[in-house]
Amino acid sequence: MVCMRNYKILWGVIALLMLALTTIAYKLVQGNVTPSDDNSIAVNLSKNERNFVLTEMRNFLITTQGVSEAITNKDLELAAKLATQAGMQTEKDAPSSLLPKIPLAMKTLGYDTHQKFDQIASDALQLKNPMHSRQQLDALMKNCIACHASFKILER
Ligand code: HEC
Repeated sequence: MVCMRNYKILWGVIALLMLALTTIAYKLVQGNVTPSDDNSIAVNLSKNERNFVLTEMRNFLITTQGVSEAITNKDLELAAKLATQAGMQTEKDAPSSLLPKIPLAMKTLGYDTHQKFDQIASDALQLKNPMHSRQQLDALMKNCIACHASFKILER
């Protein structure tokens, strides 16, 4: 009898742990968001976290302009240098509190954008083909458009 009761407690503990894990996983996928009346998803960030993201965004714009101009001038070494500055290396500066608040879909688009900048940099140095770099930048900018269409940031 004692044995049976122990099993019941054990199963109870396992069920609670499963529930906790599922909740954590769900939160990590969903992020800290609220629906918005303009059909976009509002990501709720602190003042510092929002400032970090918006600073990163303004750098994205500066980099995109610089890479584009360098490609036009067929200066692919400069294009590679600038593109690297918006590559995955910038992610290491992100506040650790930020990542769990960003929905998985937005994180995926964000990482993909950094990786596309890194790819532009390495291809520019290896292939030295301005038209190829131009096409890569054109494709990358569709990421900017896609993310802006889906997400915005509120300071909460
Ligand atoms: C993963 C999502 C995502 C990607 C990719 C992305 N952005 Fe953004 N960007 C945002 C969000 C969210 C905002 C805030 C919009 C709001 O709150 O209305 C923003 C805002 C901005 C702003 C305004 C900054 C300010 O000071 O208000 C600029 C400029 C910008 N993005 C440029 C870019 C460029 C250029 C790219 C592509 C190279 C890009 N972004 C890619 C999500 C993204």
